[in-house]
Amino acid sequence: MLKLGFIGAGTTGTALAVRLQEKGYPVVAVASRTRSSADKLAAAVSGCRSYDSKQEVANSAELVFVTTTDDVIPQVIAEVRWNAGQSVVHCSGADSLDVLEKAKSEGAQVGAFHPLQTFAGVTHAIDNLPGSTFALEAEGPLLEVLKKMAGSLDGHWVVLAPGDKVLYHAAAVIACNYMVTLVKMATDLWGSFGVPTAEATQALLPLLRGTINNIENVGLPDCLTGPIARGDLGTIGKHLEALEKRAPAIAATYRDLGIQTIPISLSKGKIAREKAEELHQLLAKSWRRNTNEDDAEGQDSRGSGYRGQHRLRGKHNH
Ligand SMILES: NC(=O)c1ccc[n+]([C@@H]2O[C@H](COP(=O)([O-])OP(=O)(O)OC[C@H]3O[C@@H](n4cnc5c(N)ncnc54)[C@H](OP(=O)(O)O)[C@@H]3O)[C@@H](O)[C@H]2O)c1
Repeated sequence: MLKLGFIGAGTTGTALAVRLQEKGYPVVAVASRTRSSADKLAAAVSGCRSYDSKQEVANSAELVFVTTTDDVIPQVIAEVRWNAGQSVVHCSGADSLDVLEKAKSEGAQVGAFHPLQTFAGVTHAIDNLPGSTFALEAEGPLLEVLKKMAGSLDGHWVVLAPGDKVLYHAAAVIACNYMVTLVKMATDLWGSFGVPTAEATQALLPLLRGTINNIENVGLPDCLTGPIARGDLGTIGKHLEALEKRAPAIAATYRDLGIQTIPISLSKGKIAREKAEELHQLLAKSWRRNTNEDDAEGQDSRGSGYRGQHRLRGKHNH
């Protein structure tokens, strides 16, 4: 198997080094911004030596992972003299292969290996990594190497075109980071009736797990439940009234997400188009009132709510 090296001994680098070594990949070298991080990774992976110099890693390994933060990848690539025939791979979700251009021009094969996973710390990262989906970019033999590597981590892979990388990463942010934001908004509302964040989080966790379960086992769109799935206008109206009075900042997001939820409800087939139109008017009307807009027509630039309204009306009228 290829000898692996790591430049950047943080969360992702350490998790990949530990798990790939367990699967039989020899991890031979690591360097980082600080020697202490490199030493820590080397201590967790038998046979791995830590170096002060990134060049030593490039000289020792056949495949080098650049697992620094995204912004410094080009700087690291520029600082090292790459060897013809070796492979250089980054793990960024948003960057494509252009940031590795200099390594390519020196004869290296270049690739991207992005774990579609959330790593909140080294221990969690090592736990979460197996079974992840990996977004791959590479050409020729390196692509096959990376597919095999994803498989060895019990993972799945998807090969992305450079033009699709940013949207792929935006989707990851919506599904992962914004889920955290939604939980924060929900716990803030619990805070308004006196329940502390930690307690509110515990109370919401079974609901969150149940939702993930339904997404996994029932799937979209049938996994949608709640007032928009049922067409309960009165309940949505009460939510809006309470939110506008007591949590206006959250009300705006509630309306936006409500509007995005109507098409799911329609595809589920539990509400008629007329009910969807009423829901839309209710959610968009409050928005107009709150933002002092007299007329929503022609206001596409204000956000998806207005655009959604036009789309719904268009379909309804035809
Ligand atoms: N965290 C996630 O959930 C996640 C998920 C998927 C992909 N990724 C990707 O994985 C990569 C690493 O992210 P991370 O979250 O693991 O970051 P991280 O924990 O902050 O680790 C980054 C490491 O890069 C090192 N570094 C910074 N500047 C450097 C330089 N100039 N030269 C050498 N090393 C340098 C730091 O070294 P010191 O410790 O020595 O200061 C640090 O250990 C990124 O491309 C990110 O997009 C992250």
